Amino acid sequence: MSKPRTTLAILIIPLSYIIFFLFTTSPKPYYHTLFLSSSFSNNASISLHLHTLTRRPHIAGSLANAEAATHVLSTFTSSSLKSHIVTYHVSLTYPIHRSLILTPTQSSKPITFNLKQEPENNPYANEVTPTFHAYAKSGNVSGLVVYANYGTVEDFVRLRDELSVNVTGSIVIARYGKIFRGDIVKNAYKEGALGVVIYTDKRDYSGDEWFPVSRSMPPSGVQVGTVYNGLGDPTTPGWASVDGCERLSEEEVELSGDAMLIPSLPISAEDGEVILKSIVGDDGDLVGPGPGILNLSYVGETVIAKIENVIGVIQGEEEPDRYVILGNHRDAWTFGAVDPNSGTAIAERFDKLQKIGWKPRRTIILCNWDAEEYALIGSTEWVEDNREMLSSRAVAYLNVDCAVSGPGFYASATPQLDELIKLAAQEVRDPDNTTQTIYDSWIGSSNSGVIGRLGGGGSDYASFVQHVGVPAVDMRFGKDYPVYHSMYDDFTWMEKFGDPMFHRHVAMASVFGLVALRLADEEFLPFNYISYASELKKSVKDLEKEKLGHDIDVSQLLKAIEDLSTAAQAINTEKQAIKGVLKVRELNDRLMMAERALTDRDGLSERPWYKHLIYGPSKYNDYGTKSFPGVDDAIDNAKKLNTKASWENVQHQIWRVSRAIKHASLVLKGDLT
Ligand SMILES: *[C@@H]1O[C@H](CO)[C@@H](O)[C@H](O)[C@H]1NC(C)=O
Ligand SMILES: *[C@@H]1O[C@H](CO)[C@@H](O)[C@H](O)[C@H]1NC(C)=O
Ligand SMILES: *[C@@H]1O[C@H](CO)[C@@H](O)[C@H](O)[C@H]1NC(C)=O
Ligand SMILES: *[C@@H]1O[C@H](CO)[C@@H](O)[C@H](O)[C@H]1NC(C)=O
Ligand SMILES: *[C@@H]1O[C@H](CO)[C@@H](O)[C@H](O)[C@H]1NC(C)=O
Repeated sequence: MSKPRTTLAILIIPLSYIIFFLFTTSPKPYYHTLFLSSSFSNNASISLHLHTLTRRPHIAGSLANAEAATHVLSTFTSSSLKSHIVTYHVSLTYPIHRSLILTPTQSSKPITFNLKQEPENNPYANEVTPTFHAYAKSGNVSGLVVYANYGTVEDFVRLRDELSVNVTGSIVIARYGKIFRGDIVKNAYKEGALGVVIYTDKRDYSGDEWFPVSRSMPPSGVQVGTVYNGLGDPTTPGWASVDGCERLSEEEVELSGDAMLIPSLPISAEDGEVILKSIVGDDGDLVGPGPGILNLSYVGETVIAKIENVIGVIQGEEEPDRYVILGNHRDAWTFGAVDPNSGTAIAERFDKLQKIGWKPRRTIILCNWDAEEYALIGSTEWVEDNREMLSSRAVAYLNVDCAVSGPGFYASATPQLDELIKLAAQEVRDPDNTTQTIYDSWIGSSNSGVIGRLGGGGSDYASFVQHVGVPAVDMRFGKDYPVYHSMYDDFTWMEKFGDPMFHRHVAMASVFGLVALRLADEEFLPFNYISYASELKKSVKDLEKEKLGHDIDVSQLLKAIEDLSTAAQAINTEKQAIKGVLKVRELNDRLMMAERALTDRDGLSERPWYKHLIYGPSKYNDYGTKSFPGVDDAIDNAKKLNTKASWENVQHQIWRVSRAIKHASLVLKGDLT
C-alpha cells in the first residue's frame, strides 16, 4: 500500500461510487468492496489510537482505564455511533503486600527477591501494578521447594507415581506455557502444596536477546494474570453485578470451587533460575523437595470496583431487532499494546461507509469490554444482564483479543461460520506477502487453514457461546507473544516487533469488518450448518478413541448428526427458492436459533453455568477447548472410578448431546414433530 496508490484510490472511489449509485438500488456488496479499499484503511489512525490507549497502564478499576473508556466513548460518538457506557460493580483484587524469600540450604543466607520488572524506557513504568495473581489467596506459607514442570495433571502424576515425590506441605514451582495458570495452582493444591510460584522459563519465552533488542521476554519480565477459574464476578455467579445486587460472601465464593485456596505469585525467569538451583533430585533430575525452602507471603485486597463497558450501536435499517455484536476488551494488566484497539479502527471505517449512504440491514453493536483480564467480567456480566434479549435476537458475536502480535492469521469459530471466515480471508491481501491473500497464506501455513473451536475460557466469546449459544468467531494475527501480560507489552514493542507499519492491524480490521458486514447485510444469514455436521462427526471419531473397550453406543449420536446434515442441506436449498420478507425472516430465525438448540437448560453436570453441550472448557485447562465437554467429564470420571454406574453416566451424557443435536435439526427444518 504505497502512497501514490492510496491517493489514486481516494480520487477514483467517490467517482465510481457516484456512477454506481445512479444505477443501482441495492449497493450492499459495493459498500463491502469499498470497505476493503485502501482509502478506508488508515494505518496512521490505528497507530494513533493505540498510542493514546496504551500510553499509561490501565488495569480494570483504575482511573487510567476510566480515561481510556472516555477515549473510546468519544471515538464511538464522533464515528456516528449511538453510544453509552454500561456500568457494573464487581469484585476485583489488587496486591498489597508480597514477599518471597529463598533459603537455599540450612546453612546458607536467605535470598530476598525484589519482585520487580526492570523498567524499559517507558515514562509510566512506575504506574504498573506490582506483579501478582488476581484472586490469589492471601497468606504466609513456607515449605521445601518442589519442581512440577508445567504443573499439568500429568506432571503431578509423574511426580507422585514415577518420582515418588510427596508434594504435601511443599511450595511448588512450575513454569508457564502449557495450561491456564489457575489450573496449575488448583493441581498443586489438590496434591497438598501450601503455595505456588509460577515462572517464565527462558526455554519457552526467551533467547539470548530480549526486548528492546528482540521480541523476547527480558529476564526480569513477569507474566501476571488471574488464577480464578470461573467466569464473571466471583460474587455474582449467573447474574449481573449491578449496584446493590445480591452477592455471595467471601466464604461462599471459596466454596464455589473456582476460587484458589492457597497463595501464589508469578515470578521472572531470573528469579525462577535461582530457585531451581536450590532443588536437587534423583540422578540429577530437577525435582525436590528441597533442600531449598521458600517463604511466600501474599496479601491482596478485594474491592467492589466500578467497571465500564462502552457500547456503540449502528441501528439496522430493515431488521433493527437482529444484532451482530463485535467485541474486544479495553482493560490491560499493564500497557496492553497487543490488546486490540480494532474496535476503534472498525468504528471509524463504519463511519466512513455511513457518510456515503450505507445503512446495515441488521443492527451492529460494538462492545468495548472492561475487566476481561480478571475473569472475562465485563462481557460476562453484560451477557448475564441481557441473556433473554441476546437469546432471542443475537445473530453472532465477533471477538478479537490479542488482535495483532505478529504475522499469520488464526481463527476459531462455531462451525456454521467457517465458510464465511474463509471467504472473507480470500478478499484481503496478506500484509506480510501482498502477492497473495490472507487465505492463501493461511492454508499454506503450518496450521493449514484449520479453524479452532470456542470451548476454552480464553476470551470474551465464552459467555456468548457457552452460556447463551450465540454463534461466534475469534480472530488474531500472530501466535506466540513472549511479553504476554508483562510490562513490556507496550507501544514500543508493538511498533518494533508486533506490527511495525500497522498493516497487520489494517488487515485484521478488514477481515473482521467484512465478516461483520456480511452478517449484518446479507439477506440470508451466511451460516452453513453442513460444516457443523462434519465437525461433529470428527468429534465423534475422537470420542470413540476414548471408549477404552467399554460398551458405549454412539449410534444415536451419529444418527442425530446425519439428520443435522440433511436439515442443513435442505435449508441451503430452500434459501434459493424463498421470496418475501416474512419468509426470509422465518428462515433466518431458524438459522439463528439452531445454535441455541445446542444449549441445555440444566447445563453441564456439576458446571451448570456452562449451557452448551458441544463446546466448553476442559476441566483441567481452562484454555483448552473440548468437544462434548459433558461426555468428556463423564469419561474422565469413569476412568478414575471404573464402576458400572460411572460408565453408564458416559452413555447418559452421549444421549444428552444426541438430543441437543436432534433439537438443532428440528429448528433448521422449522417443523413441529
Ligand atoms: C503475612 O505477613 C505479612 C507481612 O509480614 C503481614 O502483613 C500479614 O498480616 C501476614 N498475613 C497472615 C495471614 O498472617
Ligand atoms: C505425604 O506427606 C504427608 C505429610 O507429611 C503425609 O500425611 C502423607 O501421608 C504423605 N503421603 C504419602 C503418599 O506418603
Ligand atoms: C520462613 O518461615 C518459617 C516458618 O514460619 C520460619 O520459621 C522461617 O524463619 C522463615 N524464614 C525466613 C527466612 O523468613
Ligand atoms: C508469497 O507468496 C507467493 C505466492 O503468491 C509465494 O510464492 C512466496 O513464496 C511467498 N513469499 C513468502 C515470503 O512467503
Ligand atoms: C503506514 O504505512 C505506510 C506505508 O504504506 C508507512 O510509510 C507508514 O509509516 C505507516 N504508518 C505508521 C504509523 O506506521
